[in-house]
Amino acid sequence: MINVPRGTKDVLPNQSYKWQYVEETAREVARVFNLKEVRTPTFEHTELFKRGVGETTDVVNKEMYTFEDKGGRSMTLKPEGTAGVARMFIENGLASSPMPVKTFYITPAFRYENPQAGRLREFHQFGIEVFGSSSPETDAEVIFAASSFLDKLKIKGVKLEINSIGCRICRNEYNKALKNYFAPHLEEMCANCRSRFDKNPLRMLDCKEEKCKNIAKGAPKITDYLCDDCKKHFDGVRSLLDAEGLEYTVNSNIVRGLDYYSRTVFEFVSTEIGSQGTVCGGGRYDGLLSELGGNPLPAIGFAAGIERLLLLMENTGVPFPEDSVPLIYLAGMDEKSRAQAFKIAAGLRGNGVCAEVDHMQRSVKAQLKYADKTGAKFVAVIGESELESSVLNVKKMSDGTTSAVKIAELYSYLCKEDK
Ligand code: HAM
Repeated sequence: MINVPRGTKDVLPNQSYKWQYVEETAREVARVFNLKEVRTPTFEHTELFKRGVGETTDVVNKEMYTFEDKGGRSMTLKPEGTAGVARMFIENGLASSPMPVKTFYITPAFRYENPQAGRLREFHQFGIEVFGSSSPETDAEVIFAASSFLDKLKIKGVKLEINSIGCRICRNEYNKALKNYFAPHLEEMCANCRSRFDKNPLRMLDCKEEKCKNIAKGAPKITDYLCDDCKKHFDGVRSLLDAEGLEYTVNSNIVRGLDYYSRTVFEFVSTEIGSQGTVCGGGRYDGLLSELGGNPLPAIGFAAGIERLLLLMENTGVPFPEDSVPLIYLAGMDEKSRAQAFKIAAGLRGNGVCAEVDHMQRSVKAQLKYADKTGAKFVAVIGESELESSVLNVKKMSDGTTSAVKIAELYSYLCKEDK
């Protein structure tokens, strides 16, 4: 038998309503925040992620699904959503639209990681990206959007952590301080960190190796190196969060795993799903558009991992709304009445009613058993007398009562009763 590839998952018919619920909630949040949906290709030129996400990141270095297409071009399955949306923004001249341009997406993403609970090779993100504004209000709004998404899903116990990783100016000073700190420890650190030392010392704070993590604990904090503008911006974001009463902690260890970030970065973290506790992460990326050849416009966004959210909701018993069920099951006794059941169902479906009939040539008894399994709210059996009288005995499954209903009035009866 051929199995599902490692690190990927099927969504089964009796589970998909949970996905739909999370996605519908995401769309509802997007609507109230006036975010417009965008869709970008599943694969992009590899160069986009190398330049956008950064060559010193684990994502680009170790985790990308890269392949050569038949034309000899290097392509990569998107490991995240931001770089593709930024490319789309530049390529389609959205810089000339009224600002800000506020977008969202629901997308699969691919990373060749070691699978474990909450960490997959194909996963899905609900993300938002807002282009064109550098004001702290936009940072706060994006964070509020993430928090309102989690609230709407009734997720509890997720903590918001924020940090500022400064701009190019303060980062220069900070990088020097980091190099001074790490230089005497380099010998003990992993090969990855040693190569990051020259290219991008900030990344050394993000290493997952235990020995490197321990050394990084004593490293200087970026918050002590912020320039006046970055400090003012961060204070602005914090006071907006305070004004709304949104609780957070400043965690100066958050640097995020992707290179495009500047200034505000944030994560929503849960302790209920093991080591992969970050359900949502994001931040400002004011340098990305110019890095990709566009106008130097500021931008900010986040992405939440849908699988991680579902895992968290299941682990903590967050209620899901019930899956949809047929409103009526129409059983047929013989060939003629089955044909009539089929016809009535077609009419009801045309009016938007979920109606079900037998597909398996089952006996009436077996049809009723199946109807029960589907959770149908009403059941009617059609036989010779029903064909003659055009009246059905409709059974309401919740209380077992039956009503005689003319076929011509079945739709309005069901609408009235299904309140
Ligand atoms: P990220 O932190 O790499 O950021 O991923 C965002 C979220 O995607 C994570 O918090 C997690 O919930 C989920 N996620 C990441 N990797 C996996 C995985 N292997 N398996 C399951 N879930 C995963 C970004 O991707 C940025 N593009 C977010 C952003 C948007 N920043 C600005 N705009």
